[in-house]
Amino acid sequence: MRKYFLPRGINRFSALCVVALLPFNKISAQTKTDDAKMNVFVNGLMGKMTIDEKIGHLNLVTIGAATTGSVVNKGVEDKIKKGAIGGVFGIWGADHVKEVQDLAVKGSRLHIPLIFGLDVIHGHRTIFPIPLGLSASWDMGLIKRSAQIAAKEATAEGLNWVYSPMVDIARDARWGRISEGSGEDPWYGGQVAKAMVQGYQGSSMKNADAVMACVKHFALYGGAEAGREYNTVDMSRIRMYQDYLPPYRAAVDAGAGSFMSSFNTIDGVPATGNQWLLTDVLRKQWGFKGFVVSDYTAVNEMEAHGLGDLQAVSALALKAGLDMDMVGEGFLTTLKKSLAEGKVTKLEIDLACRRVLEAKYKLGLFDNPYKSIDASRESKDVLTPENRAEARNITKHSFVLLKNNAQTLPLKKAGSIALVGPLADNQRDMLGTWVVAGEWQKSISVMQGIKNLVGNGVTINYAKGANITQDSMFINRLNFFGQQMVTVDKKTADELLNEAVDAAKKSDVIVAVVGESQSMSGESSSRSDIDIPESQKNMLKALAKLGKPLVIVLFNGRPLTLTWEDEHASAILDVWAPGTEAGNAIADVLFGDYNPAGKITATFPRSVGQIPIYYNHKNTGRPYDGKGPSKFKSNYLDISNDPLYPFGYGLSYTTFGYSDVKLNKTQLKGAETLTATVTVTNTGKYAGEEVVQLYISDPVASISRSVKELKDFKKISLQPGEQKEVAFTITPEELKFYNSQLKYDWEPGKFIIQVGTNSSDTHTASVQWSK
Ligand code: BGC
Repeated sequence: MRKYFLPRGINRFSALCVVALLPFNKISAQTKTDDAKMNVFVNGLMGKMTIDEKIGHLNLVTIGAATTGSVVNKGVEDKIKKGAIGGVFGIWGADHVKEVQDLAVKGSRLHIPLIFGLDVIHGHRTIFPIPLGLSASWDMGLIKRSAQIAAKEATAEGLNWVYSPMVDIARDARWGRISEGSGEDPWYGGQVAKAMVQGYQGSSMKNADAVMACVKHFALYGGAEAGREYNTVDMSRIRMYQDYLPPYRAAVDAGAGSFMSSFNTIDGVPATGNQWLLTDVLRKQWGFKGFVVSDYTAVNEMEAHGLGDLQAVSALALKAGLDMDMVGEGFLTTLKKSLAEGKVTKLEIDLACRRVLEAKYKLGLFDNPYKSIDASRESKDVLTPENRAEARNITKHSFVLLKNNAQTLPLKKAGSIALVGPLADNQRDMLGTWVVAGEWQKSISVMQGIKNLVGNGVTINYAKGANITQDSMFINRLNFFGQQMVTVDKKTADELLNEAVDAAKKSDVIVAVVGESQSMSGESSSRSDIDIPESQKNMLKALAKLGKPLVIVLFNGRPLTLTWEDEHASAILDVWAPGTEAGNAIADVLFGDYNPAGKITATFPRSVGQIPIYYNHKNTGRPYDGKGPSKFKSNYLDISNDPLYPFGYGLSYTTFGYSDVKLNKTQLKGAETLTATVTVTNTGKYAGEEVVQLYISDPVASISRSVKELKDFKKISLQPGEQKEVAFTITPEELKFYNSQLKYDWEPGKFIIQVGTNSSDTHTASVQWSK
């Protein structure tokens, strides 16, 4: 169906006439023409809008159930008809969306279409691994592809705006939302942000299968103190610019259409009302041209932060540069009064309204408000066998082999397996956090995946073995909003455990599928203890005593503390929360049809006491020397400083040998280019992929620098015995950092170039670089 819609008085011809008079500039002619057309259109439309309609346009509501807060909007239908709503989120499905779009397009005075958003975070219907898992693939092509498929499915169900990518840097595994991002590295986070934005928005947001990205949560949300959700963030400007802001910036550079402000404070001012952040940094320094929406009721929450009553905080947010108010309706109910009292200006309201209208224009909604509402696409494009096949492929690339003693993995497609654990025959927990439209009933359990792959060739002796947890208070919290997400078996813990031990005794190898269930990570899911829950650990301990090969298939929305598991299991395969194709992808890897190559993007601590822990830390004046705790050094009395698994770590069924680093020069000047080369050899028996990582250290500078920083990587494939030369090009750009004046520049001196298989295991060479 194709319907054209333009407000009366504005037509394509008049827009083109004005554009024709504009000066022509070869370089950005197309953009200028497009922008000019958009301005003419938006000016014309705004000329017709009343102040109520303009304020109404800044109102974003959710229909139906509350998604992440207790507040839901009322009287939505009437408000849409009155022009008091600019966008809606929380609904999907062509018919449903069309019904609501009709209210705006046919029922409101100016017929302005609505924008339809949803938390499409790691897939819409076909669910991919949680973002932390996706990031472990180190494969930007696959990550981008996951966003393209998500966009295609989302648009097929009438949506045009997704609340993703989440690009918050996180160094604290207690924080449940570490699952939603790409880990701890600012440069790497920027690469993922770019791939996701490009995947969602495609070559033009006007395309029927493209959506507008919404980059969140701006900003620094991952720096919440103590890893406690919604908590205060307080950090130096240098740390912000150097370590936390780069991924947001990369998303702006990639052309992201919208941003979402975060719940936390920055320098004492909530991000949602923070003018320095939303205007000075985002728009003035970075040149962002899209619109900013608040997080769920974040405007209202500024009252609890202590910034004033609803009228005051709404005015503060608008003035700071916030354009759209999610759910709380502070803008809707107070801005007119603030205008009358001189607390906000008409210009400020106009600016916000313009930005939201521009977004709709860029999405092509004024050409066709129904552009992706096409019921026939739902059956053609959603959860198709092709999408599922791609998901299976993407998913297996996200798995990280954390341990593999004596080639326990891959398993033989023969003999017997004890398949045990609460996540082994489980569909519900395959998808992970934030799967608003994903249906767990469509996911493949580990048991099913293994059966699909090996059929009757392998005898499976199954036992649940343990409940996810036995702790009733924990269970109540996991079953939020009254959902039955975690249930307790009728059998006692001992009965369950004995069944697992019996299954193990009958089998050649034990595969224990354990870890975190769906609601253990994600929003408002901070944990102070990040061990595998005790009930499951008891089962693992009983199984380990049998002395049989013990493979742990680990589900987790965050790095967990796995010191006991690392010591006692034969192999550990980290599968995160893998999504719809979970079981199939896990079987592919367990039985060696695919050789795992993922690498972790967030450090795994030995103990929760080491948190925050991250590879790109500073040296201190009394650095730990790696030889164990010693007096008057920066270390602990009771534990080493080293993590259990460092950033960038992950094994393969094969092994890789690295040569020393060769440099084409050791003395450089100014803008010269350095080439660092290593030869990587597949020294094992399987074909495999390796992520070759480049880090640079800057040992002497005007400020204390991180011990090393990731600057590039290359993912290569090698047959057994094969060698490849991997070359990295380094320019002064890679040497730059923010100095104490917040100037982004490099300083001459010595640089240590490090290339290796993870952040702790590198080969090094040094250069002198003068200006
Ligand atoms: C979350 C956002 C999400 C929004 C809408 C909030 O609670 O922080 O990430 O996009 O709800 O569901």
